[in-house]
Amino acid sequence: MPVTAFHRLVCPLDGQPLTRQNTAWQCPQGHSFDIARQGYVHLLPVQKKRSKDPGDSKAMVAARQRFLNAGYYRSIADALNKAVMPGLPTDAACLDAGCGEGYYLRQLGHAVPEGIEMQVLGLDVSKWAALSAAKQDPAPAWVVGTNAHIPVPDNSLDRVLCVFGFPVFDEFARVLKPGGRLIMVDPGSDHLRELRDIIYPSVTERPEGERVVPESFQEESRETVRETIVLEGGSNIADLLAMTPHLYRAPAEGLARAAELTRLQLTLDVRIQVLEVT
Ligand SMILES: C[S@@+](CC[C@H](N)C(=O)[O-])C[C@H]1O[C@@H](n2cnc3c(N)ncnc32)[C@H](O)[C@@H]1O
Ligand SMILES: [Zn+2]
Repeated sequence: MPVTAFHRLVCPLDGQPLTRQNTAWQCPQGHSFDIARQGYVHLLPVQKKRSKDPGDSKAMVAARQRFLNAGYYRSIADALNKAVMPGLPTDAACLDAGCGEGYYLRQLGHAVPEGIEMQVLGLDVSKWAALSAAKQDPAPAWVVGTNAHIPVPDNSLDRVLCVFGFPVFDEFARVLKPGGRLIMVDPGSDHLRELRDIIYPSVTERPEGERVVPESFQEESRETVRETIVLEGGSNIADLLAMTPHLYRAPAEGLARAAELTRLQLTLDVRIQVLEVT
């Protein structure tokens, strides 16, 4: 089996290694974290929660699950998988930091070549995301936690993925092994432009500028995924809106215009940047 769960978790309260006992993870100090029926574990201490139900809501996660499983972002997943592979050791460990409902790790699981054993961890601050991910694929480890305090030891990962996420570069550098790589996936200036043209009165140009390379990293490569997709049916368009911040940002008139659409042609414009820890 090429994909297995990453098991080197640490206690979010004191950083001690966690050991799995039947239905809980425990640290030597006696802190215990129950494994949910669906298979994920909650490692976000109450004092590090910034709200009662942090991260994406149940409805956003459900919309993203339907939209991604329909395959609209398949080209992004394929390009991400290609970026992950070069230089991968035969016993690799990979984290998706802000994994959502797990689409990109599921796709990665299908792409791992024979001869490579990959231990995989999906981390998200939303319990709805971890729950949905665990239900869809029991092979990876799924953890509720934050990118600000990733519950794994220093130098323990070969790859960290951050897909439309919230990077914490110091923390990514801490958890990566020497020579490990961070793969960032971010929207370019034309991403979903047609949707933005419909829902906002005027779309402000977002100049691309030079992508800054964060401290402790050097750039290995960058590429652009550019493609046109067509969404058929109001429910797919509604799902896309619900999984983006636009649903909360756009004015009511804009959302009303989007609600009337039955077909939408859209540009995907996404940057994939590979950064190696120095
Ligand atoms: C735009 S979604 C992207 C999800 C997934 N990577 C995808 O592309 O399908 C951003 C995700 O980051 C999560 N998130 C927000 N703040 C986070 C944090 N501090 N640590 C980990 N995840 C976080 C949200 O709950 C949400 O699932
Ligand atoms: Zn502990």
